Amino acid sequence: MENLFIKVDEKEFGPVSLKELKDLAKEGSFSREDYIWSEDLDEWVPAEHTVELKDVFTVNTNGHFKKRIYAVASGKGGVGKTVISSSIGVGLASMGQEVIMVDADFGGANMHTCMGILEPELTFFDFYTLQKETLSDIVLDTPVENLRMISGACGTLGLANPKYFQKQRFIRELKKLQADSILIDLGAGSGFHTVDLFLLADEKILVMTPEPTSVFEAFGFIKICLLRDLNRRLKKYPEALAVLAKDGINKPNNIQLTIGDLMTEIEKIDEEALNIFKETLAGFSPKLILNMVKARDEIKEGQAIQAAALDLLCINVELLGYISFDFQVKAAVKAMKPFLLFDPKAKASQDLSALIRVNLLGKKGVREILERRRWRKLVENYSREYPEQNILENGTICSVRCFYWGDCEYEDGGSHCPVRHLEPVLKERLVSS
Ligand SMILES: Nc1ncnc2c1ncn2[C@@H]1O[C@H](COP(=O)(O)OP(=O)(O)O)[C@@H](O)[C@H]1O
Ligand SMILES: [Mg+2]
Repeated sequence: MENLFIKVDEKEFGPVSLKELKDLAKEGSFSREDYIWSEDLDEWVPAEHTVELKDVFTVNTNGHFKKRIYAVASGKGGVGKTVISSSIGVGLASMGQEVIMVDADFGGANMHTCMGILEPELTFFDFYTLQKETLSDIVLDTPVENLRMISGACGTLGLANPKYFQKQRFIRELKKLQADSILIDLGAGSGFHTVDLFLLADEKILVMTPEPTSVFEAFGFIKICLLRDLNRRLKKYPEALAVLAKDGINKPNNIQLTIGDLMTEIEKIDEEALNIFKETLAGFSPKLILNMVKARDEIKEGQAIQAAALDLLCINVELLGYISFDFQVKAAVKAMKPFLLFDPKAKASQDLSALIRVNLLGKKGVREILERRRWRKLVENYSREYPEQNILENGTICSVRCFYWGDCEYEDGGSHCPVRHLEPVLKERLVSS
């Protein structure tokens, strides 16, 4: 495969050799969603569908296995995405991985406070306003070795809906970041930006609590993502797209029409489109974390959403595990520490440790027992060394006088404001009122 022609962001390049293509993939300038010209088919095809290019995406510059991108999403806010993401980050980093966490909740960025960073020196805002050219220019160190982060923008709620080119620039830069794992903490809701970041990830993690609203919104989110993926992949098949645009399917929780019904219709229209349809369904398998579980029988909610996804959307949702409701998580938020480090022996920390090792990384077997003990000791050491933060004692108290009262998903009058980036704005307003 020499003299290849590629298409990245609608621009065509070439000829390039396979070696040059590998280098481009290593530096993140060419990814599996980009296109390659197929002589046989006489059309552009996604690189991920080209068997000969499989090796191009398997190692990164360090010669390590390809970096993994994890995205953590949920339909509903306040279900624990940020506390879980930061503790997964700590977990992976303490296993020796180079990890970069990305706070992509542009409407309510607060991952930095979870990591004990009150006022990040650099944030996404610096990248957005072009003061910093690349995302690697705004990566911050955290108190944990191997764990770095990109802080969401502070006090700039307008960034929640970036324009197309801004989104493309962000995604391209994201793929260039050098680390073993990139962990993206997404905002609530199902805006295009959130959905696209979720679809881009190798591991699509969905956090849900056992409450009906959370289950409902998690299901809606999965459905929106799946439909967007199908729409994108079937771009060249207008008749199939018309089927996807049917009224009954596009409302997130409307179940008049199932994905199976659509498949039957597309089968009548176009065999090629049907194959792409089936491939997309097979390749879309989000993983579920059930958080704040108070009783064993609540785990059924996880199984219920799995069954609904299979029946109505024809996809497999894997249950990655559950995390108990634990007051130590709340205490960790107040202490501005990831809960895994705040109290490694707490029930929630133990649940998360097992979830990371066994289900996320697939570490099983006898050797794992020794490794697990070593890891536990390491996390306990990190926990002792982690800097204390007492600033929250003087923090802003959530109140009806806040500018964001009525809009804020964290609204909890009388408690400390967890979205601390708003403090400068709030303090000003509270002082002047
Ligand atoms: N397992 C848990 N047990 C108890 N409280 C939790 C748990 N997970 C999350 N919380 C609480 O939920 C709040 C919201 O979590 P957060 O990660 O900020 O949600 P999200 O990022 O989904 O909006 C936290 O401040 C914490 O108090
Ligand atoms: Mg959050």
